Amino acid sequence: MAIHFRSGECIPLEMHKVRMVQRLNLLPVEERVKASQEAGNNTFLLKNRDVFLDMLTDSGVNAMSQEQYAAMMNADDSYAGSETFYRLEKAIREVFGDVHFLPAHQGRACENIISQTFVKPGQTVLMNYHFTTTRAHIMRNGGKVVEIVRKEGLKVKSDLPFKGDVDIPRLRSEIEAIGAKNIAFVRIEAGTNLIGGQPVSMANMREAVKIAKEAGILTVFDASLLSDNLYFLKVREKEFADKPLNDITLELGSLFDITYFSARKLGCVRGGGIFTPNKDLYDAMLALVPLYEGFITYGGMSVREMEALAVGLHESLDFHVIEQTPLFVDALAKELTAANVPVVTPASGLGCHVDAMEFCGHIPPGEYRSGALAVAAYIAGGIRGMERGTLSEDREADGSDRIAEMELLRLAVPKRVFTLSHVKYVADRLAWLHENRHLIGGLKFTFEPKILRFFFGRLEPVSDWPQKLAEKFRKDFGDSL
Ligand code: F0G
Repeated sequence: MAIHFRSGECIPLEMHKVRMVQRLNLLPVEERVKASQEAGNNTFLLKNRDVFLDMLTDSGVNAMSQEQYAAMMNADDSYAGSETFYRLEKAIREVFGDVHFLPAHQGRACENIISQTFVKPGQTVLMNYHFTTTRAHIMRNGGKVVEIVRKEGLKVKSDLPFKGDVDIPRLRSEIEAIGAKNIAFVRIEAGTNLIGGQPVSMANMREAVKIAKEAGILTVFDASLLSDNLYFLKVREKEFADKPLNDITLELGSLFDITYFSARKLGCVRGGGIFTPNKDLYDAMLALVPLYEGFITYGGMSVREMEALAVGLHESLDFHVIEQTPLFVDALAKELTAANVPVVTPASGLGCHVDAMEFCGHIPPGEYRSGALAVAAYIAGGIRGMERGTLSEDREADGSDRIAEMELLRLAVPKRVFTLSHVKYVADRLAWLHENRHLIGGLKFTFEPKILRFFFGRLEPVSDWPQKLAEKFRKDFGDSL
């Protein structure tokens, strides 16, 4: 909850208390340089024991409530027909309305099922913006992705409240140019991940869906980041200021033909699912669930996670639960902005996104600015962020790098995991790094996988800049970790 102090300062007060804790390690800076080298200068390959603040992602690492843990004890462990499934299905229906539900083990598994079922070779998927795994699945099935987020969505600094909105005239012109029968579906992603966790307005979703439906095109909603998006609908879209969150989710459940989600994000557990109000669409996808996921009453999830998900979905309708991450992101963005660190604005959900294009403007684009910044942030503070830029793109067919439209370092803020002093620490170390940004150098691949290279790729610095950065840290901070 945003609360004012006597001084007028506004702080994001935590509306929960911490009753189970995990110890953290903060290695000395010299050891951080070594750990980064051992991890191929790829934050995905760092060992968690070498990380102080894990801001890689919110996926599967959000804090769960005591009610979720209690529900786990009540799970019905059976391969088929588990009571747990029916409880989860009931929760889905309470939150999203009269829909048919298919469980899956995580979000990309839903993307596999949806892409295999609905994408034919040569077809296009129109979407506000891609997510890495989404595009990979569409392309594996012979499809193409065309992004139609409004232009301002790709501008780092903006005061547009819904930067994830679809460019409506563009949607019309693409349908006209490509032809409805060549479009597999129109996909809208809530809390648009790769452009900085930016929300989509309900007005925009309604209009985009209407246009697609009039053209006879299927609509798909990626609700993985819905809880952040719900918060922004409440605080930024007038119509919803006084509307119960459940009214909004019920509308969304019937708006789209198909909705899927990663429950590692929505519901704060580990799992996923697809739902649709249309029985024919459900039937079209059904057979792939036992083939790839598991029987239809568990879909690759543990029954304990499913029980916790049923509770977590209801908790996504609690304003105090969904506001915590956006408020912390806002606090971090404000502190960084005050220290002249360039960040994506407006502050969004998911995490604070640092603009590596500007931060590391002195590094050539082919030397992976945001990847280098991720390494530097780890060295400066044991902070593990995620590169979201050129490194996260696969190469073009001719072997050249596909230079990303945005070069971001994402500092994810998992739900209800960190404290305000963690936020202040991150802001301080990033501000120091910005003052010393000329010391950060580029990276080059030593091992580069063909698909989703950012997961396992290994890189080396183009010079001994990590050591120089560590030396400067020692000089400025003395014995402090
Ligand atoms: N869609 C969106 C918008 C996502 O953010 C993710 C995952 C997925 C789909 C895939 O879901 O991981 O359960 O298979 N995002 C994670 C992240 C990985 O770190 O942002 P998944």
